Amino acid sequence: MMKKLGIATVTALTLSAGGALAAGGEGHIHDVDFSFEGPFGKFDQNQLQRGLQIYTEVCAACHGLQYVPFRTLGDEGGPHLPEDQVRAYAEQNFETFDNELDDTRPAKPADHFPGSNIAEAPDLSLMAKARAGFHGPYGTGINQLVKGMGGPEYIASLLTGYTGETKEEAGTTFYENTAFPGGWIAMAPPLAGEDVEFADGHSNELHHEAEDISAFLMWTAEPKMMARKQAGLSGVIFLTVLTVLLYLTNKRIWAPIKGKKSH
Ligand code: HEC
Repeated sequence: MMKKLGIATVTALTLSAGGALAAGGEGHIHDVDFSFEGPFGKFDQNQLQRGLQIYTEVCAACHGLQYVPFRTLGDEGGPHLPEDQVRAYAEQNFETFDNELDDTRPAKPADHFPGSNIAEAPDLSLMAKARAGFHGPYGTGINQLVKGMGGPEYIASLLTGYTGETKEEAGTTFYENTAFPGGWIAMAPPLAGEDVEFADGHSNELHHEAEDISAFLMWTAEPKMMARKQAGLSGVIFLTVLTVLLYLTNKRIWAPIKGKKSH
């Protein structure tokens, strides 16, 4: 455990130093209390399902999720859709090119989500782990140890960080955004609030939608996060019990010798 923390610290330090250099003008990122944070954190299944809906109805027009197989939508710890819904979701929303048929067909659970529709839009499968929201102070990475790397916070801040200002440069429109490093992004604001209707009646205000899609993208980037945290926790419990047993054993073994000395 100690060793693990050490490696995490070093990584955080390296990344934050690199990030600070690469970013140039750093954006403003607000902290969000996501359900999956901390050692006991869990993904909120309903939130992941809402995020999936936002991805499907809004982001999929441009962005791909090419590393995510449809079948994982049914995994426990993820959106956990029933098997028939996973099948229906893939079939109804996406097409895959089948080499055997030499034609496109409706997607199946074994297929992956498609790649991006437009070349300028990056694939979002791993985006939540590719971006860091928090840096410093002064390149120490302490903020990341306290608040986490901030990938999902970065995405949520990006989606809510548009100021409404635009500018044209070399035929491309750029939109001012307080979270994007450099301040101007080529993605038009994809969410305005009330972009989707949730079946569970959950609020579709802009900042709720932004948090839901960010949580979903954290899941696509690290679908086994909950299993990893559980394994870590069992490891700590195991080591604690082992320490107590070894301490008692040690005491017992040395008891005759230590006992003699003190008399
Ligand atoms: C109309 C097309 C379009 C839609 C719809 C769209 N995006 Fe984008 N997105 C882009 C483009 C283009 C870029 C690259 C912008 C750049 O690098 O300046 C981008 C970049 C991004 C980035 C990366 C920013 C970075 O740090 O490099 C994220 C994250 C993102 N989009 C999330 C989303 C989410 C979430 C949605 C759905 C709510 C969405 N986008 C909808 C076109 C789109």
